[in-house]
Amino acid sequence: MDVKNAIEKRRAYRSLEQVEITQDMIRDLATSASLAPSCYNNQPWRFVFVKSRSVLPKVFDALPKGNAWSKKASMIVAVYSLKELDCSIGDRTYYLFDTGMSVGFLMLRATEMGLVAHPIAGFDPEKVRNTLGLPDGSTLIALIVVGRHSDNINNDLSEWQREQESQRPPRKTFDEFCRIV
Ligand SMILES: Cc1cc2nc3c(=O)[nH]c(=O)nc-3n(C[C@H](O)[C@H](O)[C@H](O)COP(=O)(O)O)c2cc1C
Repeated sequence: MDVKNAIEKRRAYRSLEQVEITQDMIRDLATSASLAPSCYNNQPWRFVFVKSRSVLPKVFDALPKGNAWSKKASMIVAVYSLKELDCSIGDRTYYLFDTGMSVGFLMLRATEMGLVAHPIAGFDPEKVRNTLGLPDGSTLIALIVVGRHSDNINNDLSEWQREQESQRPPRKTFDEFCRIV
């Protein structure tokens, strides 16, 4: 799959089925994430790959009703960082920017591997932090819900979530977010 295909194929699907996640797959995803650019090559991203049957349910406990579909995940990747791990130039602090780029790389590689990697911000951060023992002062930025896309629509989905399974949410037009000078 080339990059353009992976970009076009990636979707934040919410109907998932189980898939075996191996150590090799995790290392492959982490390697792809690690090849992202970062300010001074600081590599501020940190990931906890949660796949054990004993820990996953504790992360599921941190999900609100709107993200109940995530409980079908085969793995959840907790993405966190600390401001001190990356450049700050005046009011430009780059740890979130650089971590986001590495997550983008991870998601595209996951797509190429036939996985869904769906980022979510809707979770109780304190519950997840405590479960995973994240360092003080770190920012838990997102959870990436990983599984295999299922053609059977998840029963937990609302009407608008169901619609989005078959139709990608619309994007802004070129003129709404770009200008050429
Ligand atoms: C930072 C971030 C937070 C998100 N949070 C949620 C979430 O809590 N629940 C959810 O179902 N989707 C969440 N999404 C997925 C977006 O809704 C989805 O990417 C967007 O609607 C575009 O759809 P597409 O990715 O399939 O093109 C989030 C995406 C990002 C990047």
